[in-house]
Amino acid sequence: MGTILGLCFLLLLSFSHVAFSGRCNPEDKKVLLQIKKDLNNPYLLASWNPETACCDWYCVECDPKTHRITSLIISSSVPETNFSGQIPPSVGDLPYLQVLEFHKLPKLTGPIQPAIAKLTNLRWLILTWTNISGPIPDFLSELPNLQWLHLSFNNPTGPIPSSLSKLPNLIDLRLDRNRLTGPIPDSFGSFKKPGIDLTLSHNQLSGPIPTSLGLIDPNRIDFSRNMLEGDASMLFGVNKTTEMIDLSRNLLTFDMSKVELPTSLISLDLNHNQIYGSIPQELIKVDFLQAFNVSYNRLCGEIPQGGRLQRFQVDTYFHNRCLCGSPLPSCK
Ligand SMILES: *[C@@H]1O[C@H](CO)[C@@H](O)[C@H](O)[C@H]1NC(C)=O
Ligand SMILES: *[C@@H]1O[C@H](CO)[C@@H](O)[C@H](O)[C@H]1NC(C)=O
Ligand SMILES: *[C@@H]1O[C@H](CO)[C@@H](O)[C@H](O)[C@H]1NC(C)=O
Ligand SMILES: *[C@@H]1O[C@H](CO)[C@@H](O)[C@H](O)[C@H]1NC(C)=O
Repeated sequence: MGTILGLCFLLLLSFSHVAFSGRCNPEDKKVLLQIKKDLNNPYLLASWNPETACCDWYCVECDPKTHRITSLIISSSVPETNFSGQIPPSVGDLPYLQVLEFHKLPKLTGPIQPAIAKLTNLRWLILTWTNISGPIPDFLSELPNLQWLHLSFNNPTGPIPSSLSKLPNLIDLRLDRNRLTGPIPDSFGSFKKPGIDLTLSHNQLSGPIPTSLGLIDPNRIDFSRNMLEGDASMLFGVNKTTEMIDLSRNLLTFDMSKVELPTSLISLDLNHNQIYGSIPQELIKVDFLQAFNVSYNRLCGEIPQGGRLQRFQVDTYFHNRCLCGSPLPSCK
């Protein structure tokens, strides 16, 4: 009896040892080795040794139960000069991938890989600080689980696809610092998730901000450094819970006295536009306002006295048509 028990124990031990050191789905391993080859065996992936279990490799994570690859993050803080090529099409053959990131790889070129359309479990798609180019593809809107879509600091051109608003779980969209043109799509007023973050700054977006954006309640909006024109008052409203709005360096023209400011605002930057009217009195009720800039506009009248408004310096208010009162010189 003792021997049998001992044998079982021994078997169990050796089995669990094998299970541990062999943690790697063979299909996934094959795909990862193909990705490494497609990227010209970069030093970054030196740990991707065919003799070892792929769940132990750098830049990947496995599901603890199924040992399928769930995350692939290839990011170089010191840009690797010899890391060149396109996003390998084989990334589309990691069906359990939830996180895909390529970051700080200036020699990564080509389009946003169409094979990514197969990754329907994807929750985070982050392609940032690379040299990928071409349009932002429509197929991204077919990834139903996508929560974070970051395509900042690349070279994509063309318009923002209106289909992105179909993504039911999207909570953080960053398309800043590209070369995108055309308008903000009308459909952006139909994002499903309240509290979404929308970062579209540093592009060449033009035309009016769609009035439909009045229907959503984003957490943060950054549309700065584009060529947007006309009204932006739909982004404001007493019942919104928006914390940050940056519309600086556009061509916006609207009457600021007619705007109802959300009391949730922490940061409001409107510098370098053509905004007229006066600063609304209600702004003194915005208790948590930490950053504020209305400089380089066409505002007039007295700066409301009270709240946090006199904590800001002259450079919050200067270069307007006829603003006056502390911290600017008093109104005559
Ligand atoms: C890339 O650079 C690393 C380290 O500098 C080197 O070991 C590796 O062989 C290089 N790969 C290619 C394809 O040149
Ligand atoms: C990105 O690609 C463009 C051409 O498509 C090239 O001129 C530029 O030098 C590349 N940037 C880097 C950092 O490699
Ligand atoms: C804000 O919400 C309150 C309470 O739900 C409602 O009575 C009011 O009409 C709303 N105001 C606006 C401008 O939507
Ligand atoms: C406001 O923006 C102007 C223009 O960019 C800048 O000169 C000024 O320093 C800014 N002030 C604050 C408080 O951010």
